[in-house]
Amino acid sequence: MKRVNTELAVLLKEKIRSEGPMTFRDFMSLALFHEIYGFYTQAPAIGSSGGPFDTSTKFTAFAFGVAQAITQAAKKIGDSVRVVELGGGTGQLGSYMTSFLSIPHEYVVLETSPGFRKKQVKKGLKSIDTLNGLEPAPTIVFGNEVLDALPVHRVMGLANEEVCELFVDVDGDGELCEQPGDVSTPKLLQRLQDEDIHLGRGHIAELCLEIPSFLQQLERVVNPGYIIFVDYGDKASNIYSYHHRNGTLRSYYQQQQIHDPFFAIGQQDMTADVDFTAVISEATALGLELAGCTSQGAWLTHLGIQNYVGKGNGSASRQKEVDLLTKEARLGSAFDVLMFKTHGLPDGPGLNPG
Ligand SMILES: C[S@@+](CC[C@H](N)C(=O)[O-])C[C@H]1O[C@@H](n2cnc3c(N)ncnc32)[C@H](O)[C@@H]1O
Repeated sequence: MKRVNTELAVLLKEKIRSEGPMTFRDFMSLALFHEIYGFYTQAPAIGSSGGPFDTSTKFTAFAFGVAQAITQAAKKIGDSVRVVELGGGTGQLGSYMTSFLSIPHEYVVLETSPGFRKKQVKKGLKSIDTLNGLEPAPTIVFGNEVLDALPVHRVMGLANEEVCELFVDVDGDGELCEQPGDVSTPKLLQRLQDEDIHLGRGHIAELCLEIPSFLQQLERVVNPGYIIFVDYGDKASNIYSYHHRNGTLRSYYQQQQIHDPFFAIGQQDMTADVDFTAVISEATALGLELAGCTSQGAWLTHLGIQNYVGKGNGSASRQKEVDLLTKEARLGSAFDVLMFKTHGLPDGPGLNPG
């Protein structure tokens, strides 16, 4: 398929011609968050029917399940809680949640995309672009498919256990391409060493160095509280195994999965599997405790999502939603739930049959 020469592609080529190759991390950050042409900046219709791709937040049943989790967690941390939703996208989940949550609470969305913030405010949600103004308080943080949107570096194994980084450059035909070079920061080698990852020749891995700062801002405001992530990912030894020797980076363009990160820059979503080992290790280094990890299907089932189906009109379509979110062959095993807690709290909600 011929690449689409988007405005952002033209801009990035000019930038590389004048400033030299950029890390894949910087390229991905601009592709998703460029102030005008970034994919997320333009607030695509994610999580809603007819958008470029669907997420679980499109389904009311998902919000029902998340609301049970928040209600159960809230009972363990205070009479009135703050709920911080990370990367709320179109605001779909937030607007469903306001009708499902009956506990005293304040609901805040942390969102970096100005376009999405506008959509969230239109839906009546409080949307902020930084947590800096929030005081530490009893808080439950929830994020669906946010960690997988953090920009990643790409590294590749060479002979003799050496590693290079892949940079984005412009080739002789004026097309964007990847070129190997020396790693841009020793943190990449440190991550590989910490996780005992050995990349064979030509084996590519995506590493996200944003995780520590992302978690740090959350840890500061959660006092006490829980942080719940739903995402696709795995432990480092699986994500960086030979099975994934081409890496896990992929893009979505008009509901289709594509593998060329340069296909329609600014119009395609880009994502990589989340390295849960790194998330757990950085979170525990900040003093958080792992409160549990399970599949989305098991989590929602334990939380009583089946009660959403009820009886009478519409129960068949509600059952379809529940099946889609919980069955192994559908989204139930594609996504995992990773939970953290502040010291002294019991394990997170939904880990065991209720
Ligand atoms: C894949 S979308 C998921 C949206 C929504 N949670 C859903 O499931 O439909 C990723 C979302 O995270 C937001 N985002 C990305 N990086 C972020 C960050 N560092 N802080 C807050 N939001 C971020 C994006 O703008 C977007 O809304």
